[in-house]
Amino acid sequence: MIIDGKAADAQDGRLIDVENPATRQVIAQVPRGGEADVDRAVRAAAKAFESWREVPPRDRGRLLMKIADAVEAEIEPIARTVALETGNAIRTQARGEMKVTADVFRYFGGLASEAKGETIPLGENMLCYTRREPIGVVGGIVPWNMPVGLGTLKIAMSVAVGNTLVLKAAEDAPLGLLRVAEICQQFLPPGVLNLITGFGEEAGAALARHPLVRKLSFTGSTEVGKLIMHAAADRIVPVSLELGGKSPAIVFPDANDDKTVDGVITGMRFTRQGQSCTAGSRLFLHRDIFDSFLEKVTAKLSKLKIGDPLDEATDMGAIINRKQFDRVCSYIKDGLGQKEGRVLIGGLPPKDGPLAQGYFVQPTVFAGVANDWRIAREEIFGPVMVAIPWDDEREAIRMANDSHYGLAAYVWTRDITKALRTAHAIESGWVQVNQGGGQMPGMSYGGFKQSGIGREYSLEGMLDGFTQRKCVTVNLQ
Ligand code: NAI
Ligand code: MG
Repeated sequence: MIIDGKAADAQDGRLIDVENPATRQVIAQVPRGGEADVDRAVRAAAKAFESWREVPPRDRGRLLMKIADAVEAEIEPIARTVALETGNAIRTQARGEMKVTADVFRYFGGLASEAKGETIPLGENMLCYTRREPIGVVGGIVPWNMPVGLGTLKIAMSVAVGNTLVLKAAEDAPLGLLRVAEICQQFLPPGVLNLITGFGEEAGAALARHPLVRKLSFTGSTEVGKLIMHAAADRIVPVSLELGGKSPAIVFPDANDDKTVDGVITGMRFTRQGQSCTAGSRLFLHRDIFDSFLEKVTAKLSKLKIGDPLDEATDMGAIINRKQFDRVCSYIKDGLGQKEGRVLIGGLPPKDGPLAQGYFVQPTVFAGVANDWRIAREEIFGPVMVAIPWDDEREAIRMANDSHYGLAAYVWTRDITKALRTAHAIESGWVQVNQGGGQMPGMSYGGFKQSGIGREYSLEGMLDGFTQRKCVTVNLQ
């Protein structure tokens, strides 16, 4: 771990194994941080805050730019580490994640001096202005599916505007983020960024309830998001929550083409084994194109190469761990058990052969699914997509919105009127039209309904989530 600028073990010396999910072999051990370690880290962050908040914003930004350069120089080795610990394929995932990581440091580094206030015209004899001030110690908690990218987002947004941070890495994938946090130490004063490794119920919960933590920023499951919000309520601490999703992809009859098929596959994040909060996992296809579109989808999916994440030829790697693997398999079993359900490709993973060496699940598509089945309602977080037909645009939108989630959505049609009408009617924080790609720095990103609170990734996200506004009113008479 990194506490107050120095490498740190857990106070009680305990360790956690980090497993390579493609081989089930232990590749490293990291400290199993607990309450005492979190307390040390938070105190270091609180102390560092006193001077970090006074560093001129552009100087803070310049340090982030230097971190971006240093991370960029290590994209390849860190991408290998991330591929090993997450099971995400290096070519399709881990390398891209590291490029985004460098970009995010640079982007927020450039924005550090944009935390501007306003003047308010209360009259000629009054000066009224606002300042954007940092909040203090931020407690950040990140998951394993994009461990370095998501961790970096919290680091960059927090420290650019003068906060300090205690970040808890995901127990399943702490290594890449540890390396990035180490690089940060070469540039940031001690205590500005502290990194804790450990389990959620131990280190994560201790961080969420620590009295000196002034802001919580969490990415992960909706279930744990609720616990974080409860912990925050006890101290009236602001939270940003980036939680789960069951995002719809609505395809109109005019979009029965290869470009749409590719986009739907990208949107489902099949090459990250579907382990993405924005995965377009409910495919709503117009009935006229239902069968022919799905034929094209399965033809393309059958060509994806599954296997060793470090192999440049691999498109799709392994599920993160045994627990998630079992969970994904239980959903597939559930789908297979439904009488009207048809599995078009994939299904339960092979019991022997090379893929049985790791937590590999093939791309799986179910047709004949009703929108109220478990596999159509719950976030599977695996490479499992359900296809549901529709006849009427309003029916498609109603089904798309019939979810307690509202993170992302995808609309596919060349008819601009239908596309935008649908985009506006969908209850999601982010709607993409005719594309299925990932988030980019600068866009507003966050969920409606139980997919979260707050927006990150953008300038407004940083200002709203990581600064607090102070109003100063001066009488000039
Ligand atoms: P999780 O929400 O339990 O873990 C995410 C992070 O929260 C990890 O760092 C974990 O250590 C921490 N955490 C867990 N329990 C905590 C607690 N009581 N207090 C504080 N921190 C805690 O997610 P998990 O168990 O890895 O995956 C379960 C499901 O969550 C997945 O199947 C998926 O549906 C969803 N998920 C969604 C993600 C997203 O990006 N929206 C990311 C990861 C999981
Ligand atoms: Mg959990």
